[in-house]
Amino acid sequence: MSHPTHRPRRLRRSVALRRLVAETRPTVDGLVLPLFIAPGSGVERPIAAMPGVRQLSVDRAVEECRGVADLGIPAVILFGIPEQKDAMGSSAWAADGIVQRAIVAIKKAVPELIVITDVCLCEYTDHGHCGIVGRGEVQNDPTLELLARQAVSHAQAGADMVAPSDMMDGRVGAIRSALDRAELPQVPIMSYAAKYASAFYGPFREAAGSTPQFGDRRGYQMDPANAREALHEVALDIEQGADIVMVKPALPYLDVIQQVRARFDVPVAAYAVSGEYAMIKAAAAAGMLDEERAMLEAHTAIVRAGASIVLTYFAKELARLLVR
Ligand code: PBG
Repeated sequence: MSHPTHRPRRLRRSVALRRLVAETRPTVDGLVLPLFIAPGSGVERPIAAMPGVRQLSVDRAVEECRGVADLGIPAVILFGIPEQKDAMGSSAWAADGIVQRAIVAIKKAVPELIVITDVCLCEYTDHGHCGIVGRGEVQNDPTLELLARQAVSHAQAGADMVAPSDMMDGRVGAIRSALDRAELPQVPIMSYAAKYASAFYGPFREAAGSTPQFGDRRGYQMDPANAREALHEVALDIEQGADIVMVKPALPYLDVIQQVRARFDVPVAAYAVSGEYAMIKAAAAAGMLDEERAMLEAHTAIVRAGASIVLTYFAKELARLLVR
């Protein structure tokens, strides 16, 4: 038996050696924590399928944001649960809407924290679709103006960044020009550029009360079979003025994250969605896997694939483990 010249195991023999040669070193810098904002005050409503995640009223969200900033997490993304819904989702752009009030309160209390807002109508429409419905279908072009109104209203309330998640064609361009017209050219757009029609959004729809009342979202969100189409979507969004592009979900789409990273030179974000969180939580609760290790491994894989920004419900737990 000859001794092999190459022994990759040499560099795996201790924690210190493994640290020294690690290729991927996730830090808190790229973490974004999603928050669900509910009406009322003193409200902390647990979400059954997402243990540890709660809907928070504005006052409680402010407290949460103080803790988030103390952990060194740079940003939150806000989702609103409005008091009223209608066919157009009109509370989405109300100056005193739930998200608008949360933005004002959070920016006042924790000005250094980046407040990103999800721009989409599904939480605000009574039918639960991401745009206006006509002839049994989500109408693309009439929806654009409403999304633009919502984005401008968030930015006027003080949002640092807007993140359209509706998947209408042309919405990044419509939002960019509306922001520019409103004299808000400095507000960046993080587009959910490659957003798939995914079963992994299940728990979110409970959290945000946004389950479609008929049909599904396959007429606007992407087919999980397609990766080249994701590159086309990303190219279109960058052309229309997206500053950051997102792939969503994250773990089942690492190949897409990797290709977007390789092909484009803007920052790439990935959204580790509600179902990814719920899977780890449920398996850990059943004693089937080690929660902390599974969480870290999944997160490291998403960063390794090429995401420098990760939206994750594990942001606080990760921040306690990762270096600043
Ligand atoms: C709104 C939106 C969804 C998510 C983020 N923004 C739900 C959907 O498209 O049905 C999912 C986030 C998650 O599952 O954590 N359109």
